[in-house]
Amino acid sequence: MISPDEFARRRQRLMTEAGDESLIVLAAAPEKLRNGDSHYPYRQDSDFLYLTGLSEPEAVLALRRGRDSGEQILFLRERDPDRERWDGPRLGLEGAINQLGMDDAFPIGDLDEILPGLMERCRHIYHLVGKDAQLDRRIIDWRNRLRAESRDSHGPGEIVSLEPLLHEQRLVKSRDEIRAMRRAAKVSAAAMRRAMQAAGPGTNEAVITAELFHEYTRNGCPPAYLPIVAGGANACVLHYIANDQPLPDDGLLLIDAGCEFQGYAADISRTFPVNGRFSGPQRDLYEVVLAAQHAAIDQVRPGKPFEAFHEAAVEALTQGLIDLGLLQGSLDENLSQEHFRRFYMHKTGHWLGLDVHDVGDYRIDEQSRVLEKNMVTTVEPGLYVDAGEDIPEYFRNIGIRIEDDIRVTDDEPENLTSGVPTDPDEIEALMRS
Ligand code: GLY
Ligand code: MN
Ligand code: MN
Repeated sequence: MISPDEFARRRQRLMTEAGDESLIVLAAAPEKLRNGDSHYPYRQDSDFLYLTGLSEPEAVLALRRGRDSGEQILFLRERDPDRERWDGPRLGLEGAINQLGMDDAFPIGDLDEILPGLMERCRHIYHLVGKDAQLDRRIIDWRNRLRAESRDSHGPGEIVSLEPLLHEQRLVKSRDEIRAMRRAAKVSAAAMRRAMQAAGPGTNEAVITAELFHEYTRNGCPPAYLPIVAGGANACVLHYIANDQPLPDDGLLLIDAGCEFQGYAADISRTFPVNGRFSGPQRDLYEVVLAAQHAAIDQVRPGKPFEAFHEAAVEALTQGLIDLGLLQGSLDENLSQEHFRRFYMHKTGHWLGLDVHDVGDYRIDEQSRVLEKNMVTTVEPGLYVDAGEDIPEYFRNIGIRIEDDIRVTDDEPENLTSGVPTDPDEIEALMRS
């Protein structure tokens, strides 16, 4: 559980970095209609969640350094017994102060009235420029109103993107964030183990998808993204999400799925034989990907550039493809010509956190950024073999990805998702059990 103190510290740090004479403004995610009167499940905006811990729509956070009657201000829906009978409980103004640690709270309906006043004597307004067109517009309107109404003020001169400050802060995880990520990883690994045990001849992608969702839901964890449950050749469609086909008895099943806990995501991929035993060619390819993953994880250490683990994976995959006869020529030649791209067309990882593809720069001043303790990245090499005439028949249409969530530590990389095996013998044993 992330404490109200931690949320308050995050807001404090952001204010300090934005400097005096700054106002920071962020809005909650709106509810979204799916069709008719039915909504999509509500998911708070990750930036707003990071700074407030609030999972309600119709709220705005304003941070104003030096404001006498409180610096951390939340606008939100008031308690309303009639509405709460239909839609469930609301935190309300008192809850914002007592439970979220805000200094001050106002009804969301008073936003237009109060916000221009918070801009007085500000030089900068920080917000996520371009993220929410409605908020972009309202910030200009508030500033114009302040200019029109006050005789001695031009209103804040500068509207600044909050993104660099906030996303840099989100990139390095706190102890409690890592705890939440371990929990998401543990539930996601349990779901993946269930999927392995449920698969077998005669099953289909939909049944396996239901196993995943059952395990997430009973643990109170929503899926972090649409899972990929891809049997046989479907695994070569990188963003396959139909998940509705019968499984080939002698094929592989690639699953890429994870849930979130308190907003923090896990992201796991495993590939295993539907019938519980890898064929020779399946195992040959699988072991190339696994060796690439091991080589890559070993590079996830403080002081290493982010790109180092991708380079390690590419080198191991390329050598494996040469050994299996899928690429010809020398390692150096294949690497410099990037011939691996025919079989491996994505990067080896991405930051992980409140977003599955989490925020934070990968490059700084045109250099790969250096890993630091408590950054979390996925490591997910794969191979996707097409059905070209030059490919031996037994390798055609095989797609394999192995993905784990790795924390940078002072010491050995911590694999958050080690609760589900990657070793082919261990996978076969689990499927038999
Ligand atoms: N599940 C999306 C990804 O692996 O990046
Ligand atoms: Mn991923
Ligand atoms: Mn994934």
